[in-house]
Amino acid sequence: MLELPPLSLYVHIPWCIKKCPYCDFNSHQGHENIPEQAYLQALLKDLNNDLHWVKNRKLHSIFFGGGTPSLFSAQSIEKIINAAEKHIGFETNIEITLEANPGSAEQQKFADFYKAGVNRLSIGVQSFNDQQLKSLGRIHNAEHAKKAIEMAQISGFERFNIDLMHGLPEQSREDAMVDLDIAIQTGATHISWYQLTIEPNTSFFSRPPILPEEDQLADIQDLGMQRLSSAEFSQYEVSAFAKAGEACRHNLNYWQFGDYLGIGAGAHGKLTIPENAEIIRTAKTRQPDHFMSREKTALASQKPINQDQLSLEFMMNALRLTQGVNKELYARRTGLDESVIAQIIMQLEEDGLIQPQAENYCTTDTGIRFLDTVLQRFS
Ligand SMILES: C[S@@+](CC[C@H](N)C(=O)[O-])C[C@H]1O[C@@H](n2cnc3c(N)ncnc32)[C@H](O)[C@@H]1O
Ligand code: SF4
Repeated sequence: MLELPPLSLYVHIPWCIKKCPYCDFNSHQGHENIPEQAYLQALLKDLNNDLHWVKNRKLHSIFFGGGTPSLFSAQSIEKIINAAEKHIGFETNIEITLEANPGSAEQQKFADFYKAGVNRLSIGVQSFNDQQLKSLGRIHNAEHAKKAIEMAQISGFERFNIDLMHGLPEQSREDAMVDLDIAIQTGATHISWYQLTIEPNTSFFSRPPILPEEDQLADIQDLGMQRLSSAEFSQYEVSAFAKAGEACRHNLNYWQFGDYLGIGAGAHGKLTIPENAEIIRTAKTRQPDHFMSREKTALASQKPINQDQLSLEFMMNALRLTQGVNKELYARRTGLDESVIAQIIMQLEEDGLIQPQAENYCTTDTGIRFLDTVLQRFS
């Protein structure tokens, strides 16, 4: 029986001071000339156009992502938060996260974000090593990163995430552990620890840097997980580590196949429409100029997820979580009966890829390593 899951809101801000050579996100270089007011108006209009999908529902979380949302003024962020509260409404304890870059951190602005209702910051540190930050083309250094964290704390943010990357050009095992140690010591409640990947359509793809060898990458991964675990950060997703009770509720909602509105250039949404017994995916116009100049809707596509794709889509999200998800959630979130996947699950259990007889659909240690193989069975 298809139920309405928690509802989140993703707000995309598509500009950065400088485009990083490894980044394939929808982010555009531009600083002085960001059309903040025009974009704000376009976002408010986009939100308005999406309201018909979420009547009588409340928001569980909001995430301002980018790009670099901290380039926007706190007043603009506040206007979006206020509009979301007025037109949709908030659950008590709503989580509101904003991504902030150390290269554009300002004390007053952080304090104003907090006053505007943002209650969680995600700080894009990447590394505390100046040499490595340079090789990543970042505009900040280690000192800026530490200052930004301090500013977040002074501004009242008790919950904050640090984004770190590892497997960086010329990074030793020790370098990677020093980065983690510094992040742990800051008092961060969450650490997102990503291995650098070389994505098509990036500068690194056309001019690849020399990365650590496979066995060194594996060592960094193993050592890092031990470091994080002994500092009481538990891993709950491939790259996400949190202190007790500090998992990112917004991302958890994605991974548990919850719903979300996506507003802004290129933003994606997923919505359950029980009366039509369908789940739809939406995408908005990708180019910021088109997004701002369109006459009516910014919706570029809206299509239901095919019934035969639903199990795969559910599992693609759920099985990224180290604890998986409760088996009950499958029927509630997809509207399909558990019997649809019973045969596949049994085979995966026999192959040692899914935990047998568990309350949750959850991969084994081998299953998580061969997640693509596991997921292929659902396609
Ligand atoms: C959407 S980005 C935006 C955050 C913010 N603009 C920043 O870069 O500081 C979120 C995070 O994804 C990670 N990331 C981006 N590109 C990556 C790549 N190619 N490989 C691994 N992690 C990446 C970085 O840690 C980054 O902070
Ligand atoms: S600052 Fe973040 S979003 Fe912007 S280009 Fe760099 S990695 Fe991408």
